[in-house]
Amino acid sequence: MNYNIAVLDGDGIGPEICAGAIKVLNKVGEKFGHNFNFEHLYIGGCSIDKFGTPLPQETIDKCLKSDSVLLGAVGGYKWDNLPGNERPEKGLLGIRKAMNLYSNIRPAKLWKSLAKASPLKYDLVKNGVEIIIVRELIGGIYFGERYKGVDENGVEYAWDTEKYSVPEIERITKIACEMALKRSKKVVSVDKANVLESSRLWRKTVHEYAAKHYPEITVEDVLVDNMAMQIVKNPAQFDVVVTSNIFGDILSDEAAQVTGSIGMLASSSLGDSKCGLYEPIHGSAPDIAGKDIANPIATILAAAMMLRDSFDLTDEYAAIENAIQSVLDENFRTADIYEEGKIKVSGSKMADLIAQKI
Ligand code: IPM
Ligand code: MN
Repeated sequence: MNYNIAVLDGDGIGPEICAGAIKVLNKVGEKFGHNFNFEHLYIGGCSIDKFGTPLPQETIDKCLKSDSVLLGAVGGYKWDNLPGNERPEKGLLGIRKAMNLYSNIRPAKLWKSLAKASPLKYDLVKNGVEIIIVRELIGGIYFGERYKGVDENGVEYAWDTEKYSVPEIERITKIACEMALKRSKKVVSVDKANVLESSRLWRKTVHEYAAKHYPEITVEDVLVDNMAMQIVKNPAQFDVVVTSNIFGDILSDEAAQVTGSIGMLASSSLGDSKCGLYEPIHGSAPDIAGKDIANPIATILAAAMMLRDSFDLTDEYAAIENAIQSVLDENFRTADIYEEGKIKVSGSKMADLIAQKI
């Protein structure tokens, strides 16, 4: 089969980690008889420098026509002082919206061989942790109205709005319930219903929708502040977690850290079609860009998720996951997951090792 993949390398370590994922995809193609065509497109800071916008129309058009999209990361010090609307991050938010990617799946999994890399006590994680965060991606405060002004006394003020409609909550609840059906049949819904009106609607809608369409699923509510605590207190208690855009952003970083390194976590973003966007959950790490020390595993896993979730290539997904597992079992580590006694390798070497195992 032929697959056309749009590659949005972005900024900082983006190009290096995408190169690692492409290397692995090409090896998968060779082994399993697929032809992956890659077209590199601009997004983020590099696009601001070249075209004066973080998201050129050409990038949107070509992503929409592709079979799926692989993204590295956007942002960097260089663009930190631009107004909100012109920042590199706006490119990422824009492409999520343009492709209608409302569902963001962020699995935080603790790899057995990395249990010692978790900052938590070994006892808390030794039986494994796998939290599937289902984050709503194109609504809420990220996309609500915002304003910055100066009042009559010359005092500056600003506001942002968190807004959710019933259909927006229902469609993400459906994704979480479908995921839970294949797993523990339990969904934890995270909100701040003791304070926010939008959270009260969220909570009510999640329960009504799940009860009507997925009676076999149990839904439990956890307030976001308590959730932040529970993730470090006992992460193994969670399976599928559904939440809003901003809470999902915050909790997925926390869950990532619990599993050892944010350099290991991938995410898939999908809407109603099979064309999705796959990216590591970490950022562009401008401080280590160009040094070949960034861990490419999150991006390689994102590529694997693309094969599974967009192209239905489950054996190919498993081949990549197993390859990562064996390279870790053989004690190879990039700097972020290095522990004494292991073999430290560069980012490109890590990708080579994984590709060789396919
Ligand atoms: C993420 C990132 C983005 C987000 C930023 C870069 C806009 O933190 O994908 O988690 O907040 O969604
Ligand atoms: Mn984030």
